[in-house]
Formats: sequence, structure tokens, C-alpha cells
Amino acid sequence: MKIKGRNIKQKINNINVSFNDLGRKEAPSIIFIHGFPFNKSIWDAQAEALKDNYRVITYDIRGHGESSVGMEIFTIELFVKDLIALMDILKIKKTIICGLSMGGYIALNAIENYPERFEALILSDTQSIADTPEVKEKRMNAVDAIRKHGVEKFANESIKNLFSSESFKTKTAEIAAVKAMILSTAEQVLYFTLLALTNRKGTSGNLPNIKVPVLIMVGEEDKITPPAQARYMHEKTNDSVLATISQSAHIPNLENTPAFNEPLIEFLNSISKMALKTP
Ligand code: MLT
Repeated sequence: MKIKGRNIKQKINNINVSFNDLGRKEAPSIIFIHGFPFNKSIWDAQAEALKDNYRVITYDIRGHGESSVGMEIFTIELFVKDLIALMDILKIKKTIICGLSMGGYIALNAIENYPERFEALILSDTQSIADTPEVKEKRMNAVDAIRKHGVEKFANESIKNLFSSESFKTKTAEIAAVKAMILSTAEQVLYFTLLALTNRKGTSGNLPNIKVPVLIMVGEEDKITPPAQARYMHEKTNDSVLATISQSAHIPNLENTPAFNEPLIEFLNSISKMALKTP
């Protein structure tokens, strides 16, 4: 049976979560988690590439995209609770999980606390360390700057760090789309999420305990979660593959989709019996 579901709304943990559920219900599932402050649409190209062979779920983290904010204080643990509740409601016992940046923090925390729910882990442009004092200070300065100067300035400053030099020349539509995602995120959600990010616990201690195959990807020019952090996670995990994505920085799945999808599909082929064609 084919599932054709975009922007489905489902009540979980007292919020309405918005998600896309594509592909066949009986196919192996893969859930993609976006970064901050983006939404599920950043995964459209990956969903399109995989939906013939996988049940592909992309969703908006609470407060982002079309998902509602709720009343609880944002924490990575709360975001993990939402992920597990979404899996439960969709009757997904076990899944492949893929998280970019904040999505990776969620995936790493989820696999630490619910290892039995995941059969493979894909990390992109993320890290297992907690915030350093300098990063914590930067986040608090960002909160002040949004209060004083508004979201537009925050969006413009963020964009400078998100994309590679090549993307600034060639990916104007993608950059405009990401800017629109930031601008459409409520100011309060920006504060709440910045606090959740800065209060998050590190997950490095659990890396050697991960028992499933891991793919770690990183844009070669990523300044936010740099390649050194990807290499660190690669060294600490027992069964991981590392792929550096050229001509990209913090959002390589958007900036250089073919170069991102190739290791993604190769990894999925290596852990499954189905052979997907690389682009
Ligand atoms: C993200 O893309 O989710 C953020 O850049 C993560 C972070 O700031 O740590």
C-alpha cells in the first residue's frame, strides 16, 4: 500500500506535529530530522530520491514549520519524546534515523536512551559535544540581538555561516528558502530553542556503545559543526563511515544534493538487501 501524505497533522504530547509520510507502508522506514531553525522541507530532495524503496518520514520539530509550540520548556529530551511518540503513533517499532545538526543532537540522544528503536544512524553536520562556554555566550548574545534588532538581522547573520562560498554563487533559491524558514519561525521559538541547544548534554560518552551502523556526513566548509567534530565521532564509534561533502557548509543535503545523496544511498544499500541506484 502506498502512503501519500504531505503535511499530515497528528496530536502527540499535547502538540500538533506536522509530517510527510511517503513511500510504501511495509518498506523499511527512515525518519529525517531537520536543524535549527529550519523545517521538514529541507529534506524534500532526499525524500524524493528514497520514497520508491523506503517509507520516508520528515517532520517539523515542535515550534518549527507547521508544528505547534505546546506549553513545555524546550529541551533536546522533549524533542526526543516527540520523536518516539510520533514513531509510536505511526506504529514504527524500529527505524533508520537521520538528523542534521540539531536533528543530529536529537538522533544521538534518542539512540542513547532508546537504542532498541533504531537500526541505523545517519548524522549530518552535527556533533556529540555539549556547548563550550564561548558557544553558550554566543547563543545568549543571539537571544539579546533578536530582542533588540529583530529576526531579519538574525536571519541575515545566520545565513552568512550556513552556506559555502560556492553556494553563495549558485544556490540563491535554496538560500532564499532557508532565510524564509528562519523568518517564519516565531521569535519565542527561536529563544526557546536556543536555550534547549545550549542546555543540551553531550553524547560523546555513548558513541562507543552504539551497536548499529553509522554514517557521518559533513560539509567541507561547515563552520558551525566542523569536519573535526565529524572525525571525532567517526573515531569514537565502532562501525561508522565518514563522508565529507564538497562545495557545501552546514546544509550539504541542500547545497550539494547529488554529493550528499550518493554516500547516503551507498550506506543504505550496504545495510539493506535492496540496491538503490546512486544519482
Ligand atoms: C542547527 O543547524 O541545528 C544549529 O546550527 C545547531 C547549533 O547551533 O548547534
